[in-house]
Amino acid sequence: MLLWFEYREIQRNVMSQDAYRLISPNGTESELPVRSGTTGPDVVDIASLYKEHGAFTYDPGFVATGSCESDITFIDGEKGVLMYRGYPVEQLAAHSNFMEVCWLLLNGDLPTSDELAGFENTIRRHTMLNEGMLNFFKGFRYDAHPMAQLSAVVGSMSAYYHAEMDASNPKHRDIFAHRIIAKLPTIAAAAYKLNTGQPFIYPRNDLNYCDNLLQMLFAVPAEPYEINPVASEALDLLFILHADHEQNCSTSTVRMAGSSGANPYSAIAAGISALWGPAHGGANEAVLNMLDEIGDVSQIGKFVEKAKDKDDPFRLMGFGHRVYKNFDPRATIIREMCHKVLDALDKEDTPLFDLARELEQVALSDDYFKERNLYPNVDFYSGIIYKALGIPTSMFTVMFALGRSVGWVAHWREMISDPKGKIARPRQLYTGAAARDYALIADR
Ligand code: CMC
Repeated sequence: MLLWFEYREIQRNVMSQDAYRLISPNGTESELPVRSGTTGPDVVDIASLYKEHGAFTYDPGFVATGSCESDITFIDGEKGVLMYRGYPVEQLAAHSNFMEVCWLLLNGDLPTSDELAGFENTIRRHTMLNEGMLNFFKGFRYDAHPMAQLSAVVGSMSAYYHAEMDASNPKHRDIFAHRIIAKLPTIAAAAYKLNTGQPFIYPRNDLNYCDNLLQMLFAVPAEPYEINPVASEALDLLFILHADHEQNCSTSTVRMAGSSGANPYSAIAAGISALWGPAHGGANEAVLNMLDEIGDVSQIGKFVEKAKDKDDPFRLMGFGHRVYKNFDPRATIIREMCHKVLDALDKEDTPLFDLARELEQVALSDDYFKERNLYPNVDFYSGIIYKALGIPTSMFTVMFALGRSVGWVAHWREMISDPKGKIARPRQLYTGAAARDYALIADR
């Protein structure tokens, strides 16, 4: 069956100014409205397609499909642009801080100084966990991956914090947002402490978000812990850069799980599970493992050839992106921060950084990568910073999750308060057996 698309202009100077005229082989004609956003490509609204033409669209991986309207984050993949609520990420990285970015993503505008102070205070007062939740960590194996612990314990929040969980109540939605942002660092640090065999360190509400995270990760009861301001600044920057990325895999997962009306803590736990995959947030861990495997600049050529070989499943981790086809603006900012961190902290990791930069140069001058527009993404350099801060590889994706937690919450709130919201329920192209009669077991 063939469907004919004909682009037809209907009206000018209104938001939905054009339409596609669709003619199916049986002669049915209809108009599919074209909708324009503030910026970026138009979308064809195909919601009436099945009703009017009896056909679905087919787009595995949602390569050309918009799943929702959103006013949170904009990406122009061709030009390497990323904006939160209209503010370019470069400006936020240079002048803002993670708490301010959290407010911006949640509320739509930059806060006044009073609003920011109030918000920071609220986040500081939500950092403790219900004491019963600490029992979870006693039940995990000592070597449980921290992402497995994070998704399980965040999922358990639905069992601990159900009193203020009426999704139709804006106050409850705020409390949920504050709890997720404030408690994730405490859970992440507890997971790390389990892996290291050290005692859990309680949050300190006199410290800011990143200083508090560092002390929960690295302090021990036996001696005072001194927070390194460069480490704190680097984490804050990484969290700003990871805070949101519109309809990425984990955020779409949060929206999809939440669209059924599921408990939002469970929806966030689903997002954490999606983030863990090596094609998504798990890539930062995979990059470090790959650099370790490459080991030396003399081996780069061999690994680049492996990445190009279609019979070899190996890919250059930290390279390529579904949306960015020019460069990932976050990678450029992180590369700069790498210099600063390595200068101030751990010179031992400089050879690793040199190896990464050489690999980037070799890949960027290779036709395979040039033709496919494959550039370093956010995960390529972030792991080198984490490593220099003393954060183990298995915790890298957890760090990504802390930054992205605010994006997930902002999208869940947008999704749940959308009056046009529907349960997310895609269709399929069925390729299984046609209808057949059941055979009794004796006749098979
Ligand atoms: N190494 C080698 N070849 C690659 C790579 C890579 N890293 N990425 C894409 N390609 C090739 C791919 O084989 C395909 O080639 P061909 O056209 O000959 O079949 C072409 O480039 C297009 O790739 P794709 O897989 O169709 O693109 P996608 O948009 O579905 O996937 C991606 C995007 C990020 C999953 C992919 O580039 C990848 O696997 N990269 C490595 C993992 C990674 O760094 N992930 C982090 C992404 S950024 C942070 C985040 O989202 O969390």
